[in-house]
Amino acid sequence: MAQIEDALESTSEASLRASQARSDAIEADLTVHPERYRMLTGDRPTGRLHIGHYFGSLMNRLRLQDLGMDTWVLIADYQVIYDRDGVGDLKANVLSALADYLAVGIDPARSTIFAHSAIPALNQLILPFLSLVTDAELRRNPTVKDELANSDRPMSGLMLTFPVHQAADILFCKANLVPVGKDQLPHIEVTRLIARRFDERYGRVHPEQPVFPQADALLSAAPAILGLDGTKMSKSKGNVIELGMTADETAKLIKKAKTDADRHITYDPVNRPEVSNLVMLAAVSSGRTPEQVAEEVGDGGGGGLKKEVTEALNEHLAPIRARRAELVTDPGHLLEVLHEGNDKANAMAEATLADVRTAMQMDY
Ligand code: TRP
Repeated sequence: MAQIEDALESTSEASLRASQARSDAIEADLTVHPERYRMLTGDRPTGRLHIGHYFGSLMNRLRLQDLGMDTWVLIADYQVIYDRDGVGDLKANVLSALADYLAVGIDPARSTIFAHSAIPALNQLILPFLSLVTDAELRRNPTVKDELANSDRPMSGLMLTFPVHQAADILFCKANLVPVGKDQLPHIEVTRLIARRFDERYGRVHPEQPVFPQADALLSAAPAILGLDGTKMSKSKGNVIELGMTADETAKLIKKAKTDADRHITYDPVNRPEVSNLVMLAAVSSGRTPEQVAEEVGDGGGGGLKKEVTEALNEHLAPIRARRAELVTDPGHLLEVLHEGNDKANAMAEATLADVRTAMQMDY
């Protein structure tokens, strides 16, 4: 048994190393050849986006958009019902996510922002894709496994098949680059598997190339920012700073952050996780290294560090917050932006579905 587990462990280690190596090679290539890539990524609209989303992924999306890459940003509204029974105030959450995207600088003239529930042809890809994976493969997916082991809710068909839906999200626009965290790698593996099997089983439209590309993950180089108590950010723990909060609300939350008794501030993530997280937050907010921030605060203690974080973060977020405040006053404009993105995504999805029908001899 231990042997099997070791073997499994080393397989996933090996595949993580392979994914990291591919990601590094792409990172080196994409500044030179942004035109080789179409990137797709997105978020579940479960509430307002926070600074973890911003420093962890939104800033990277902006960088890719600004390199001139063809950029697709998905608001995964159907995914909200994977692990919860109700949708909540979904429409408000979708518009809020959109306001966050536009406020940070995702530009609808260069990036297509859309909601997957509004794209029928994207969803129609799910049916042929489901024919390409087995029940056992789906149950091996770590997120599905975790749900089976740790949830007292019976697993829905939607939850079981969600890696397949994500494959449709990625492949409907033939994206070949998906910026994500390591936890999403198994899902990208399923996407690659589906693309490969589609080619083997249903064939091609153009003999020289498969209908679907092999998508690669672009693993984020951004340091993970934890919540203000030094644990994983979670809205229910009250340890997150939302992009849309005011400077005062931000200051109040940071004041309550956990630190330690040593007044000399250092960057030492292993031994001083809470302090180091605040140091890192000040660093990413101001474009300094964590070591520089720690040195500047010096013997200023927790109070000095918090003052530094508050100033740096509020200054960084001020223009974003001002734009956001303006955007939310005009929901009609937000809806217009979404409709334009949906139109572009629909045109793309219909073209891809036409290829799928041709390959499957269903083009009648
Ligand atoms: N699963 C992602 C999340 O929970 C959202 C998502 C849905 C996504 N479809 C995707 C991300 C496709 C990348 C590619 O945040």
